[in-house]
Amino acid sequence: MRRAVCPGSFDPVTLGHLDIVGRAAAVYDEVTVAVLVNKKKSSLFTVDERIEMLREATAGYGNVVVDSFHGLLVDWCRTNHVPVIVKGLRAISDFDYELQMAQMNHGLAGVETLFMTTNPLYSFLSSSLVKEVATYGGDVAHLIPAAVHERLRARLAERATES
Ligand code: PNS
Repeated sequence: MRRAVCPGSFDPVTLGHLDIVGRAAAVYDEVTVAVLVNKKKSSLFTVDERIEMLREATAGYGNVVVDSFHGLLVDWCRTNHVPVIVKGLRAISDFDYELQMAQMNHGLAGVETLFMTTNPLYSFLSSSLVKEVATYGGDVAHLIPAAVHERLRARLAERATES
C-alpha cells in the first residue's frame, strides 16, 4: 500500500489544493489530507469545519481520507506509517521555504517530500488571497468549490455583522 499525505491549513480548501490532492490520489493508493491544528494562528473556519469541507470536496475519490494533526507533521507520518508528503509548488517564491521544510522533515524522520507543479490556472491562488478578495466583495466563485463558497459568504456575513 503506497501512502502519502497532503498537509496544510486549508482555511478554506481551494481548487488549487484539490488539484494537487486529486493528482496525488492518482499516483498513490491512499492519500490523507491532514489539517494542521494550530491554536496560535487565527483562522476563519474551525478545524472541524475545514475537515467537513475537505470531506465533501474529496468525496468523489475512493482513496482520499481527511485527518487533523497537532505538532510535527513527521510525528503524524511516523504514527500513521506514511512515508511521503506531497506538496504543490506554485512559483519560485514557494520553493525556498518548502525546500527548508522538506530537508528538515527528511533529516528528522526520513520522510520524503515530493513536489507537484501547480496547475497554472491556480498558480496565483492561496486561501489567504481568497479570503481577502471575498472580504472586499471580489468574485472567488471560480477558485473554490461551490459548497465552500456558500460557507465563506455566510461566515464573512456573520463577521461583518459582528464588527
Ligand atoms: O497550508 P500551510 O499553512 O502553508 O501548511 C503548512 C504546513 C501545515 C504544511 C506546515 O506548517 C507544517 O507541516 N506544520 C506542522 C508543524 C511542523 O511539522 N513543523 C516543522 C516543519 S519542517
